[in-house]
Amino acid sequence: MYEHDVIVVGGGGAGLRAAIAAQEEGADVAIVTKLHPVRSHTGAAEGGINAALRDGDSWEDHAYDTMKGSDYLGDAPAIDTFAKTAPDEVIQLEHWGMPFSREDDGRVSQRPFGGLSFPRTTYAGAETGHHMLHTLYEQVVKRGIEVYDEWYVSELAVTDEDNPNDRECHGVVAWDVQSGEIAGFKASDSVILATGGIGQAFDHTTNAVANTGDGVAMAYRAGVPVEDMEMIQFHPTTLPSTGVLISEGVRGEGGILYNGEGERFMFEHGYATNDGELASRDVVSRAELTEINEGRGVDDEHIYLDMRHLGEERITDRLENILHLAEDFEGVNGLEEPMPVKPGQHYAMGGIETNEFGETCVSGLYAAGECACVSLHGANRLGGNALPELIVFGALAGRHAAGKEMADPLIETGPSDALEHDELSVPTGAPDGDAGVAEPATDGGAQGAVDTRAPTDVVADTATTEEERIEALLGREDGVNHADVRADLQQSMTENVNVFRTEDGLKQALADIQDARKRYQDVYVADKSRTFNTDLQHTIETRNLLDVAEMITIGALARDEFRGAHWRKEHQERKDDEWLKHTMVSWNDGDPDLWYRPVLLEGHDDTYEPKTRSY
Ligand code: FUM
Repeated sequence: MYEHDVIVVGGGGAGLRAAIAAQEEGADVAIVTKLHPVRSHTGAAEGGINAALRDGDSWEDHAYDTMKGSDYLGDAPAIDTFAKTAPDEVIQLEHWGMPFSREDDGRVSQRPFGGLSFPRTTYAGAETGHHMLHTLYEQVVKRGIEVYDEWYVSELAVTDEDNPNDRECHGVVAWDVQSGEIAGFKASDSVILATGGIGQAFDHTTNAVANTGDGVAMAYRAGVPVEDMEMIQFHPTTLPSTGVLISEGVRGEGGILYNGEGERFMFEHGYATNDGELASRDVVSRAELTEINEGRGVDDEHIYLDMRHLGEERITDRLENILHLAEDFEGVNGLEEPMPVKPGQHYAMGGIETNEFGETCVSGLYAAGECACVSLHGANRLGGNALPELIVFGALAGRHAAGKEMADPLIETGPSDALEHDELSVPTGAPDGDAGVAEPATDGGAQGAVDTRAPTDVVADTATTEEERIEALLGREDGVNHADVRADLQQSMTENVNVFRTEDGLKQALADIQDARKRYQDVYVADKSRTFNTDLQHTIETRNLLDVAEMITIGALARDEFRGAHWRKEHQERKDDEWLKHTMVSWNDGDPDLWYRPVLLEGHDDTYEPKTRSY
């Protein structure tokens, strides 16, 4: 068994920043990650990092824009903490050597991004995430933080009290992708999940193949509620054939969207008469799909993003990467032709419920970054708010997890009987008698019983269970290929839980997920080897995607209103009287529980008033 004070699961922006912060507090930290850190999906982030750095801007304006962007589903304490802290974190990155793009006078450049009232997006060309990842990784190497890379964490080692609020996390179980070794990792202080997004639940996504919602699914099965999972962001400009991202930075620099009839539809068709192409992403994605669905798209499938008028010098200076992506993945020369684009899944606003220090209701378990929901983005994230989220909340989680004294959190976590609970109208959860799918990390226990096992035993027991599960998977000689299950799941999610959602479509998705769960019971792994067994890894990831897809769809069906990225055909207005609340889903021995937690509109200095949102 390996042992460290703090174990960070995931080596992207949030994980690296958390590890650095915990190490600065004196903790012995290890990062356990299924990829080498610099291959993490943070490296694919193009556009930038929002922070109020300049005269004329303020953290209050950044917070206001973020709350408005969230369509009033963000929690004010999270938003205020974020907007106040982002400038220091960006300056810290600069001091660590991040190669930001600069003005002629030497100042870090900032450009406009969607939904911002001030051009506050700092950037490094159109490869901001790549440079941020390398800058943070250098700090990890410099500090000698131990990195177990290509170790796949497949389960959390959590005690088994009935009430998740009483449980404790003592570590994780991981297997070495290179050798097949399965090992427990004991965390004397804490585990921080920083496992990134869930994009592989969809089949047209900007997300990497690795983004399979592992942390979200593991935390859920350990009893931590997931929050606002229905809030999925579809980025307006992805390449039609692959889903590769074309940065909002193109529109920030002045790029224009045209429909198939050559109209600048954002203005001409009244979708956003002030901000046009720089309205928030939910607005632009709906506008594009409306144009396409009403027959004004190109080839009934996409629209155009044109940057030719910006000129070669400016494009190669600020957006060079976009030229390469358009050429390599779509065969289009962005200097000479408009680029075909369409909306694609990009980001999960929801995730593992945490407070503003990244703590979950399970003692010793933290989450930060895209896998977490501190409730910063609410119903729609603003472009350029993801990278600062990683460093702001990564650092806070790292410090807290390493034991630094901090003020009491304003955000509460954990299931509560006192809050509103709801019934699901359609079948969900694991099929009866199934032990292989979405099995809880814990096995319950007598009412009120306290798990008296030593932390080491909790980790060792979990490792044994994982070994048995993996042996059972490898022991099967035939059955269903996980890839078929995954492909059908992705297709149903893309068809039914996309930008435009209907009640029938959402019910169809839940039925398809039930079917996929049943098929997964007979899943088998063809590759029996112990080294680099990606078949085995992807099979386990597919199990996580089933849970994630179900959480998303349960929330989407329950929320019968139109808010931010969540458009419902039968419910065309935002219902503040009823829905200023978060959808929460908790694992209950295989049957999801649906309940709600009120949105917090009272911030550090002020209370936010929900207003009509227009751009
Ligand atoms: O469009 C982009 O460059 C993406 C930025 C973001 O998601 O924040």
